[in-house]
Amino acid sequence: MKYTVITGASSGIGYDTALAFAKRDKNLILIARREDKMEQLKQEIKNINSNLDVVIKSIDLSILSNVYQTYESLNNYEIETWINNAGLGNFSPLKEQSLNKIEAMLNLNIQALTIFSTLFIKDYADVENTQLINVSSAGGYITIGNLVTYSATKFYVSAFTEGLAQELKTKNAMLKVKLLAPAVTETEFEQNSLGLELFEYESNIPQFNTSKEMAELMLQLYDSDKILGLVDENTYHFKLQDPIFPFRNA
Ligand SMILES: NC(=O)c1ccc[n+]([C@@H]2O[C@H](COP(=O)([O-])OP(=O)(O)OC[C@H]3O[C@@H](n4cnc5c(N)ncnc54)[C@H](OP(=O)(O)O)[C@@H]3O)[C@@H](O)[C@H]2O)c1
Repeated sequence: MKYTVITGASSGIGYDTALAFAKRDKNLILIARREDKMEQLKQEIKNINSNLDVVIKSIDLSILSNVYQTYESLNNYEIETWINNAGLGNFSPLKEQSLNKIEAMLNLNIQALTIFSTLFIKDYADVENTQLINVSSAGGYITIGNLVTYSATKFYVSAFTEGLAQELKTKNAMLKVKLLAPAVTETEFEQNSLGLELFEYESNIPQFNTSKEMAELMLQLYDSDKILGLVDENTYHFKLQDPIFPFRNA
């Protein structure tokens, strides 16, 4: 039995990506904090295909020791694809930002993603048909005022993932590393980033994708030989393309 791991599976892009992979008959390991949401997702997956195995890990990934423990707890599973999707935004001028929220964001967006990626590469770099997909953002290629800390975490995700993808390619590794960079997508992300109970996309944002559209784009990237799947912020067209940042080997 092979498994697809998705972090941040309790809502938004991760939730719909889990449903999209279930439709491809993939067994799933779902990771996030809210167990009830993942139980609901598990039920939806079982309605798609009752034969699939769905494992739920309710865990706070902003705590480093949890990241190591979670990976270790999956030792007995054969993993085909690992998707680092969990992420937190922080939308306000820097001087108004909470330091606790900045810490949680750095720990989740950068630390957890890097540790999971590294542990997965150590175990699976030479295993056929394996993929690591990290989720960055259009804001991982253009610095956005009033969300500079978030934007900078996504620059890290883009640089790390593009670089890793090319480093492994030069070593002829079996494992493929890819990067999804969504633009604005209707999820719980904006309300969490702004610290609101609810955020209305329709009345506040001129253009955005739905999380179902983004899950569809995730599958296109999964099926493609390209490293980067990017939503153009101006046209909202999805492009599968080569990495953007310059790269050389040391
Ligand atoms: N929506 C957008 O406009 C947009 C644009 C570009 C990029 N992105 C990126 O897309 C990814 C998915 O976000 P989304 O839009 O789907 O937002 P979302 O609906 O808020 O989903 C975020 C997911 O991350 C999980 N998460 C948050 N903090 C966590 C923690 N400490 N430990 C474990 N899991 C945690 C959440 O689950 P729990 O709360 O249950 O833990 C949730 O499942 C993120 O990396 C985000 O940066 C989003």
